[in-house]
Amino acid sequence: MASYIIEGGRRLEGEVTVSGSKNASLPIIAATILNPNITKLYNIPNIHDTQITLEILKYLGCKLKKNHGRIEVNSKNIDKREIPEHLMNQMRSTVVLAGAILGRFKEARFSYPGGCDIGARPIDLHLRAFKKLGINIIEDSGFITCKCDRIIGANIDLDFPSVGATENIILAAIYAEGITQITNAAMEPEIVDLAKCLNKMGAKIEGAGTNIITITGVEKLKSISYTVMEDRIEAGTLLCAGAITGGDITLKYKTPEHITPIIHKLEEAGCQIQIEKGKVHLKANRKLKAVDIKTLPYPGFPTDMQSVFASTLTTAKGTSMIIENIFENRYRYVAELKKMGAKIAIEGKTAVIKGVRRLSGAKVKSTDLRGGACLVLAGLAARGTTTVTNIEYILRGYENLDEKLRNLGAEILLDKEE
Ligand code: EPZ
Repeated sequence: MASYIIEGGRRLEGEVTVSGSKNASLPIIAATILNPNITKLYNIPNIHDTQITLEILKYLGCKLKKNHGRIEVNSKNIDKREIPEHLMNQMRSTVVLAGAILGRFKEARFSYPGGCDIGARPIDLHLRAFKKLGINIIEDSGFITCKCDRIIGANIDLDFPSVGATENIILAAIYAEGITQITNAAMEPEIVDLAKCLNKMGAKIEGAGTNIITITGVEKLKSISYTVMEDRIEAGTLLCAGAITGGDITLKYKTPEHITPIIHKLEEAGCQIQIEKGKVHLKANRKLKAVDIKTLPYPGFPTDMQSVFASTLTTAKGTSMIIENIFENRYRYVAELKKMGAKIAIEGKTAVIKGVRRLSGAKVKSTDLRGGACLVLAGLAARGTTTVTNIEYILRGYENLDEKLRNLGAEILLDKEE
């Protein structure tokens, strides 16, 4: 397993460019399955999760051309309808590929996406929505087979504004007969990016970014090129890296409106933040102030920033409280932070963080993607050496994180011990 080795105590300074969004890239890559013509995508981050998704497209019969962040997908000759189990199990969010395969071919087969490190991750909302669209679903021995003659537009009310379910319904309904309306839809910027890309292809999606989205079925889509949005969670992670080290950093990042709750919380913690055209500048005091965080669906504070912000608060002055409202098991990183001297108590959905003077370097293990990132940030600020192991989790969602941090002055090395 690979590790990061970090010498803590360096203030981060300088400028860094935020990569393309993982969570916009995955559904947008899925959307190319719907389009029998060529789709050119730009700003796709080169991370494990996009690599896996592209491998599945190749398996289905898509022809791919890759050149760094530029991907060309030719979906003309797709000859399979099944997502291979070994790839499905590597990444549960491949479930959005099912919606795209269904939308185009009215048939899809995939294995139950396993739970993951942050919760059970059920897909009941996805399946219930597919049934509303007239799709027959057979679940047997861990596999799900979806099939129908026609996909008929329907009114779908989501019990919870699920990001994945909202994306899957949009993808499955693009060619549906009639109109599909999603009520209590997720409003995340990644949904807006998916809709913008599909509408550029000729789809008819209205209301993306609000809690009511309408999809009017169309007959065909056309070849386009599309640039994927920037990664708002990477932007938040880099700002927190600046904050925890008392640093002075500038992000080359054009959509600060996507990270308003993160910016407000960093300001409440005592950071000065300036927004200029295409840039976000953060200057942090040596000592941050404790703040309270509650994770909520967008536009609330994002759950993906919960662990990263928690590590930022471990050395703040005072006691912080975090309430995790989205996933039921997203505190696994806490045991690792405590090895570094953090004072955190967990009670159900709530974490109480008592600020300590300084963390101490230790050998710690990534528990999941964002839990791993939080340990890297803790290592940047800790006294001495921190080794973060199992960083394959981190490589799933952050493109060249160690290189970006090194360019900001961090002492971090990737140890690819085989
Ligand atoms: C997306 O996951 C993101 N992943 C997650 O980011 C993010 O944390 C999450 O949205 C919330 O913003 C991608 O976009 C690839 P949900 P998703 O469906 O779609 C429950 C990261 O670190 N639920 O909005 O799986 C579910 O259990 C990842 O980049 C059901 O109960 O999230 C969870 O408690 C982690 N039934 C809540 O809803 C369902 O059918 C939110 O899940 C679906 C979801």
